[in-house]
Amino acid sequence: MPPLIFVLNGPNLNLLGEREPAVYGRETLADLEAACREEGQVCGVAVEFRQTNHEGVLVDWIQEARHAARGLVLNAGAYTHTSIAVLDALSVLTMPVIEVHLSNIFRREAFRHHSYVSMAATGVIAGLGSDGYRVALRALARRLAA
Ligand code: DQA
Repeated sequence: MPPLIFVLNGPNLNLLGEREPAVYGRETLADLEAACREEGQVCGVAVEFRQTNHEGVLVDWIQEARHAARGLVLNAGAYTHTSIAVLDALSVLTMPVIEVHLSNIFRREAFRHHSYVSMAATGVIAGLGSDGYRVALRALARRLAA
């Protein structure tokens, strides 16, 4: 059985494709999921891909990952910058966590420069679009195989 990686996406990422295309590009959430599935196949991990607009649901899924998954890729959207609840949930995890952002949050508004998620993340990838998710999955696969 290949190790299972949770790929969790936070608020407004369901609108990818129509949401601020100059910032986030034209790829949809379905495209992102397809990229993750393809990359998972290539690097030998199973992918559980989800999106929610609700902070508590994100917390529930991170808690679920404790027993269900071997690694986590997380784009918490705006909750990245606001949610101590998400940070607390991540702090319980003992598995590797890769924080991903489609855009380069450090080229954007100052309020996006601080990330609660980073305080609990193994690594951070920003600004590479869907390639960032691919890199994250690959890095997790290599760690889990080591
Ligand atoms: C984002 C960056 C966040 O600042 C923003 O709130 C998002 C998307 C990204 O993927 O670039 O919703 O996480």
